[in-house]
Amino acid sequence: MDQSVTPQAWDVVVLGAGAAGLMCALQAAGRGRRVLILDHANKAGKKILMSGGGNCNFTNLYTEPANFLSQNPHFCKSALARYTQWDFIALVNKHGVKYHEKKLGQLFCDNKSVDILNMLLKECEAAGARLMLNTSIEQLERIDLPPAGIDLTEPASVTATGTASASGAEGLAAQVASASTARVAAAGDTGAAIADRNGAVEQHLRNSGDAQVQATAGSQAEGGGEGEGEGEGGQGSQGHPGSKKKGSKKSRRKDESMAPAKAAHAYLLQTSAGPVRAESLVIATGGLSIPTMGATGFGYQVARQFGHQVLATRAGLVPFTITDQLKALCTELSGTSVDCLVSCNGKHFRENILFTHRGLSGPAILQISSYWLPGETVHINLLPDLDVPQWLAQQRNDRPNAELKTLLGELFTKKMATLLSEQWFVSKPIKQLTHAEMEDIATRLTDWQVVPAGTEGYRTAEVTLGGVDTKEVSSKTMESLKSPGLYFIGEVLDVSGHLGGFNFQWAWASAYAAAQYV
Ligand code: FDA
Repeated sequence: MDQSVTPQAWDVVVLGAGAAGLMCALQAAGRGRRVLILDHANKAGKKILMSGGGNCNFTNLYTEPANFLSQNPHFCKSALARYTQWDFIALVNKHGVKYHEKKLGQLFCDNKSVDILNMLLKECEAAGARLMLNTSIEQLERIDLPPAGIDLTEPASVTATGTASASGAEGLAAQVASASTARVAAAGDTGAAIADRNGAVEQHLRNSGDAQVQATAGSQAEGGGEGEGEGEGGQGSQGHPGSKKKGSKKSRRKDESMAPAKAAHAYLLQTSAGPVRAESLVIATGGLSIPTMGATGFGYQVARQFGHQVLATRAGLVPFTITDQLKALCTELSGTSVDCLVSCNGKHFRENILFTHRGLSGPAILQISSYWLPGETVHINLLPDLDVPQWLAQQRNDRPNAELKTLLGELFTKKMATLLSEQWFVSKPIKQLTHAEMEDIATRLTDWQVVPAGTEGYRTAEVTLGGVDTKEVSSKTMESLKSPGLYFIGEVLDVSGHLGGFNFQWAWASAYAAAQYV
């Protein structure tokens, strides 16, 4: 860590200005906490903007714990119950955002996804949360302070910490030890030295942090309260935006005096905009899907640094690629969508599948991809509403001279009927089909067995399965059970939703839960 500059001190630093990070920031700032959101991207909420085909499927009317995958299926229950789809809908209504139910309880914006992003940014601004974009985290460490009488809101108490790069649990343990020792030494500094540091901080903030926020504000849909807190509320040289709310510090202090004494700890971050100190650190950096949108494995790295298990990750809600055998069929049918029942590993979804040049996609395929493991067979019923053996027998009886191609043309598009008749079966008058051939036709149509070659991976996946093991995180507060003051929310955790607005609902709910405790 750079020891020459005193860190800018905040109650809460949220890493990641995505769905979960923004929700946590606005809720925590609403409680009077001084909140800073940091993101390395040049824009907040990029995934919100691209979600739902540009219309953001922001929640689902039928959200239930059963809509989520996790090694611990109980983990999500508490948070989902405390901030429900109805809570988010109330927020959307408050902002006059127009929406509609597309199908299956999925709520989409009438206009554009940016309505949801603007709503969150407005709420952050109103609550006084500060947003800093284009800011990367270079180093992170925790310091443990003597518990009594330490005011974490005052800067300049800690400047000297371990010098080793914060990676790996062992490295961290050494740093924590050295940081604690350093804190004691720092407390013995002369007043003159501290005053000098404070002067340096003021200068540094003018030169880097706030200047950067103002520079990035123009690119933001609705700003983020940037640049307005400086000097306004008497919070000293730091100019925290939370100070905009007159009396908030006082009421916070009152709350805190009633609350049981918290363990004294802080997180020190070396960022590209200078050092930052946080009483609570919230990791909301999401998963690995769509790296071009700013996704990184940073949250997993932080989790490991503080001794957490990270469960194996893989792409979820993702199209399948297919083997050469099926390539011709998929290519020829590219763009064709069929209502199907798709099953794998005891799970099934009734929705459309879509043939593409690369393989199979569409909502039913995306849903089942989250349950599929390489090498496994996916079962596709192309005619889920029809008793196919009975229908074939009926046709044979009623229209014995009708060709199979003609009959299938009444169930599928002409192109698909022709291709299936030529590639899967032999098209001839139905009266000429043997019983074995009839059975084979029924089986192929109701239980088409596909072994995908793989998935399109994180490049197009909507979500990352796996992640920070929920066993080591409180389901009530989202706080780490390994490192006090550290919180994980949103997709970085091993909780992934089905397609249909569930992933955003998890982001809102987990963020709300953490925001009550940070
Ligand atoms: P999210 O990914 O939103 O935010 C993480 C933030 O952290 C980003 O701003 C990123 O820049 C930042 N970050 C990452 N690494 C960092 C680092 N090292 N330093 C600083 N910042 C860092 N869900 C749904 O419910 N309905 C929908 O319609 C859709 N549609 C959809 C479409 C597409 C194409 C995708 C890819 C995904 C969806 N989803 C969805 C899923 C949904 O977008 C996703 O689950 C949430 O955005 C997760 O929210 P988080 O806040 O956890 O992460």
